[in-house]
Amino acid sequence: MDMDVEFDVHLGIAHTRWATHGAPSPVNSHPQRSDKSNEFIVVHNGIITNYKDLRKFLESKGYEFESETDTETIAKLVKYMYDNRESEDLSFATLVERVTQQLEGAFVLVFKSVHYPGEAVGTRRGGPLLIGVKSDHKLSTDHIPILYRSCTCCVSNVLYCMFPSRMEQDTCHTLFAEDKKSVEYYFASDASAVIEHTNRVIFLEDDDVAAVTNGRLTIHRIKRTAGDHPARAIQTLQMELQQIMKGNFSSFMQKEIFEQPESVVNTMRGRVNFDDNTVILGGLKDHIKEIQRCRRLILIACGTSYHAGVATRQVLEELTELPVMVELASDFLDRNTPVFRDDVCFFISQSGETADSLMALHYCKERGALTVGVTNTVGSSISRETDCGVHINAGPEIGVASTKAYTSQFVALIMFALLMCDDRISMQPRRREIIQGLRVLPDLIKEVLSLDDEIQRLAAELYQQKSVLIMGRGYHYATCLEGALKIKEITYMHSEGILAGELKHGPLALVDKLMPVIMIIMRDHTYTKCQNALQQVVARAGRPIVICDKDDYETAKSSSRTIKVPHCVDCLQGVLSVIPLQLLSFHLAVLRGFDVDFPRNLAKSVTVE
Ligand code: F6R
Repeated sequence: MDMDVEFDVHLGIAHTRWATHGAPSPVNSHPQRSDKSNEFIVVHNGIITNYKDLRKFLESKGYEFESETDTETIAKLVKYMYDNRESEDLSFATLVERVTQQLEGAFVLVFKSVHYPGEAVGTRRGGPLLIGVKSDHKLSTDHIPILYRSCTCCVSNVLYCMFPSRMEQDTCHTLFAEDKKSVEYYFASDASAVIEHTNRVIFLEDDDVAAVTNGRLTIHRIKRTAGDHPARAIQTLQMELQQIMKGNFSSFMQKEIFEQPESVVNTMRGRVNFDDNTVILGGLKDHIKEIQRCRRLILIACGTSYHAGVATRQVLEELTELPVMVELASDFLDRNTPVFRDDVCFFISQSGETADSLMALHYCKERGALTVGVTNTVGSSISRETDCGVHINAGPEIGVASTKAYTSQFVALIMFALLMCDDRISMQPRRREIIQGLRVLPDLIKEVLSLDDEIQRLAAELYQQKSVLIMGRGYHYATCLEGALKIKEITYMHSEGILAGELKHGPLALVDKLMPVIMIIMRDHTYTKCQNALQQVVARAGRPIVICDKDDYETAKSSSRTIKVPHCVDCLQGVLSVIPLQLLSFHLAVLRGFDVDFPRNLAKSVTVE
């Protein structure tokens, strides 16, 4: 191994982030700096919960703060610890390691400093961080053993570590290309940010400190903990750049809506056998017996992923004959919900990095429950930290508003329900009906997508309205919630998903001839009740737009307009009924002049609490 290789080093750090402390403004933007001469700069994803104490401490030492961010505290703390270092040869990685010992909360950090030219150090706790590695030349290794330091004094909660840490230094444990000047490293929270440059990535774990120094990458940890993997592998992602390009579409969201006929096929690929009506989920096979014996299923998620749980709850209850709870991760934690060893907890998450869901996962693991991930992101925190799981394989979802991930989560949960009852004789007719429904689903999705022009015309009539109510019940309550969420987040119109059974308990008061109302009425066991709701709305001069079965002439008679979707088995119909609302929200946002893919105030991965 040639240890004298030299590198031409070019290094920069930048970060677009979701404002948590202080309004979005130049001074609150990242990187944050230690001082006016930029001795240390840092970018940060997450929230430092003890930043006020740290700020007070640093102010008492004469530091003047420029921004309202929690991140600036880190930049100043690193300078403080550097200025008060006990020895001249303190490495950047050790310095960062010491800084992180003082931080509470969730963070992903990347640092750069004039004192360590050509070096960058990244670390994470409670948020995702990966390193893309690009080289046209052979790399010195395909996995990076971890360097452990033992520094007992760092464990105590003091602001400054007085004793030098001892490091079991081994310079062979670094990564570089066997040709000088030919390796590039990219720190990012999501693979889609680096895929343009490389598909080779290293996923870091909590408390890893990764340092790129003169073109070499090294990964350190303070100390070995039980279950620690002693190395980080360089993984090759299957994601293609073209998968994250817009192609002929005007936005990622539109592209992703139109990808659904293929994305649901990808979710089922190799898993559902339509000829013998069987389902195989490789990621669950070692745990399925244990799941079948459990006390209850708890589905935990946020936002759209939560709606996928609401949408499939009924069929899960029916096919598993188990109690099924569907929980918003934040509320689940707020309530300190009792969880038992014989519970099975599902974490549904497109990104696999949502902080609330991840915290709920830790909570359930601590209580001994079996944890199952339903994620779209291979290598994400949730997929790595759960005991077992299902990848939904929808492909990268870039638009902030989740669309294809929802329908794939929906299908994945249905596949799970089918697997749970594959040996129950009494369930076989129902299983066959659903599996044959899955077979035709992609074609039916295409049929719904062909309504796009009609929905665009509807959007042209609605886009100047202030509010839209969306009503339904049974299998379609989730569609109402999801449709309303889509409208809110990208059109900034008020929208509410209303359970039609609750109409007379309050929401009916909102209905008049001016209020736009969308109703979802399908021929399932709630049909008659939905008809009643329709009559109640019409009786208050409401002029409902109804999403209904394409041959439902009865409903059409009382509607001001209908959006006719093809019929399929009741528990899958929600996959079809949500698509007109995805399209509607998209067209409304375009007509209102908003950026469909990047709605204000929102981020794709919500890695803060
Ligand atoms: C809405 C949306 C969000 C996410 C939520 C959870 O369109 O995208 O509501 O569904 O932030 O994100 P994941 O699924 O990544 O855990």
